[in-house]
Amino acid sequence: MASSADVDLDEVYSFALDLGKTAGKILDDGWRARCSGGGSNKTIEKDSAVDIVTQTDEDVEAFIKQQITDRFPTHKFIGEETYAKGSSKDYLIGDEPTWCVDPLDGTVNYTHIFPMFCVSIAFIVKGEPVVGVINAPFLNHTFSACRGKGAWLNNTQRLPLINNPIPPMPADAPKGCVFSCEWGKDRKDKPDGNLHRKIESFLNMAGEIGGRDGKGGMVHGVRSLGSATLDLAYVAMGAFDIWWEGGCWEWDVAAGVCIVKEAGGLVTTANPPENPLTARIEEARLGSRLYLAIRPAGDAPSESAREGQERTVREVWRRVRQLDYSRPGA
Ligand code: IPD
Ligand code: CA
Repeated sequence: MASSADVDLDEVYSFALDLGKTAGKILDDGWRARCSGGGSNKTIEKDSAVDIVTQTDEDVEAFIKQQITDRFPTHKFIGEETYAKGSSKDYLIGDEPTWCVDPLDGTVNYTHIFPMFCVSIAFIVKGEPVVGVINAPFLNHTFSACRGKGAWLNNTQRLPLINNPIPPMPADAPKGCVFSCEWGKDRKDKPDGNLHRKIESFLNMAGEIGGRDGKGGMVHGVRSLGSATLDLAYVAMGAFDIWWEGGCWEWDVAAGVCIVKEAGGLVTTANPPENPLTARIEEARLGSRLYLAIRPAGDAPSESAREGQERTVREVWRRVRQLDYSRPGA
């Protein structure tokens, strides 16, 4: 195995950008072939009827893995489909240089030809995503970042898109914010289970001010794209102010976390601590399956950008429920 000292990040970044483009093209060819009567829409269920894999997921992951192994034979590789075939649900990312790949995020969208699907490629050193590339071929969008080099749309537009100046967080956030969240794959209809807690949280964020026993957040809009990866890309872009989600895995978020952080956003845990108004705001742990992301913000006369982001985190925590997605090793 390679050590982090051997890594040339510029080389890794330019390789990942090319790889994202080529893998995105395979996804693109797949849905186009289906439109003209070729290709296959066959899906296989994994953990449930909404947790599916297509032949395209498998083909793209095999392609990406081969490309990485040929170029960087000493790097570790973790991909959604290879991982799903194993029996363990442990968190496997350590200090060594590691590629963490979702060959097709938004698989349900892909099968329905809803454009919110993408390939997501992250390179991780010492547990931290330092390169992220997300290619959404239907939209012709590539989001990317490399530590210290900022975050980019199609390699030309710096993220966030509005950056001169970057708007501060709204003074009464979450009011005025676009709130992005996911229904996810845990559909167990259990009283007070994850699904019920998520819906209660959505209601709190959306409800009118003064409603929901003081928890109504009156957000500007609620969005659910069906791709955790693209949710994070739009947080980096500044289009989404807040993303709150539990249940997704490291390959769903690793590239997006790198891109959000390079754009100036904040990523912490979805689960509210005991004292949401005073608790220390820690960085999200990659394997935790619980994420809350806040968009890049600018300074306001009364508070710094970071203070505005932290205020928003606390206002979200005050309204959302704890979720349970525990797993070994995280
Ligand atoms: C899923 C999507 C979805 C999120 C799930 C993910 P997939 O990935 O990102 O938005 O809620 O947790 O597993 O199955 O489309 O690759
Ligand atoms: Ca995924």
